[in-house]
Amino acid sequence: MSKKLSTQPLRGMEDYYPSDLREINWIIDTIRDIADLYSYEEFESPRLEPIEIFAAKSSDELVNEQSFIVEKKKGEKLILIPELTPSLARMITAKRQELKKPVRWISVPTCYRYERPQKGRRREFKQINMDILGENSLYADLEIFNIIVDIFSEFGATSKQFQIYFNNRRFIDSVCELILQVPKEKIPLIYKILDKADKMDDSEYEKYILESFQDEIIIQGIFKLKEAKSLEDLLSRFEDISKEFYDSKGYKELMSFIQLLEDVKISEYCTFSPSVVRGLDYYTGIVYEVFDTGKENIRSIFGGGRYDDLLSLFSDEKITGTGFGMGVLMFSLFLQTYNLIPEEIREKDYTDTIYISSISEDVSDYALELAQLIRAEDFPCIVDYRFSNLKNQLSKANELGVLIVLIVGPKEKEQDEITVKNMRTEKQETIKISSLIDKIYDIIDESES
Ligand code: HAM
Repeated sequence: MSKKLSTQPLRGMEDYYPSDLREINWIIDTIRDIADLYSYEEFESPRLEPIEIFAAKSSDELVNEQSFIVEKKKGEKLILIPELTPSLARMITAKRQELKKPVRWISVPTCYRYERPQKGRRREFKQINMDILGENSLYADLEIFNIIVDIFSEFGATSKQFQIYFNNRRFIDSVCELILQVPKEKIPLIYKILDKADKMDDSEYEKYILESFQDEIIIQGIFKLKEAKSLEDLLSRFEDISKEFYDSKGYKELMSFIQLLEDVKISEYCTFSPSVVRGLDYYTGIVYEVFDTGKENIRSIFGGGRYDDLLSLFSDEKITGTGFGMGVLMFSLFLQTYNLIPEEIREKDYTDTIYISSISEDVSDYALELAQLIRAEDFPCIVDYRFSNLKNQLSKANELGVLIVLIVGPKEKEQDEITVKNMRTEKQETIKISSLIDKIYDIIDESES
């Protein structure tokens, strides 16, 4: 006997069976409805892009270690998108003259990262992105936070179950420059170190810091940024903070944002977290990651922030953007943890499917014609192709949970009639085809009342 091929998908890839997809689509459609309420429009970009647009602005690690690279014949390298934001920047720049700003866009791409598959992380995954471009003010970041809170609330989650951990890169810049005296060119290294904080064990992390910096004030400063639990806590750990720091854009912007969160009453969902800086290079302002507050799901559900210079890859014109990416898989794990997915979502509902069963194959033409008539009225319809043994056909309909079965026989065909059976009440009646649709509505209405 020949060796059979594996039925498993590639490592880190997922097969979505209809019941899985029903849950995923329910999540995505619910979020699309929220996006509609904020007037976001959907767009799509290719899954393959030139590698350069990611190499320049995403992160070395993401492009060099975690990407699927496709080589074209003449050596040109393409990348299977590990994230969407650089493609969004490319599309916006291409039409920057005609697009009415601010642009509010949503997209649900499939992304690819060559990561170690683990709970909440796959090599192929769906990510919901929502971004606003061309709006400088903090109100745009606030809108994104409001959307995140609305999304969780819509699914029934509370502030005890999730938090948006936020920070501002400009604030970290001010801390680095005006408190820790970090040379400007070394600030990106501080971001990198902070971003690795939760991805390394303590001794590994300490070694990484000591290899990167020798100055004791800076080393201690990194630990303070990592450990502080609030803004007050962080600032109390430093002595003699200058007026220049309190006058800096970074400090003032952070304070204003914290005030805005209070003004719109979403502070309970948000926690200032100085170690959240994000691993992608393009962020410049407010940054955030959303986590489950419990122990079950340890990886981020959402990640995002403001990027001021991403479009500079394609044009000299500056357009700023802010937005998030949400892993659909992580979000569904979160919902499962808190029992926020209704049971019935995973089961297909056949209640309004009309089931046609026939006494013999001689009436198959009549049965098929009827099916088309019913579908033309927008009712889903299944024809049982066994065309014999009515009892078996009815029991199949019962198993599916169908409400209405149409029974077709030679007499019905001859007289333009149909026998309609209500599977809940077991009542059946033979009627003229011309009154069939009204009858279907009557039975549905009756079952719902
Ligand atoms: P990110 O933090 O790299 O940000 O990804 C955002 C979210 O995508 C994560 O929080 C996680 O839920 C999901 N995700 C990431 N990697 C995987 C994976 N391997 N498997 C499953 N889910 C994953 C970005 O991608 C930014 N481009 C988001 C953004 C939009 N920033 C501004 N606008």
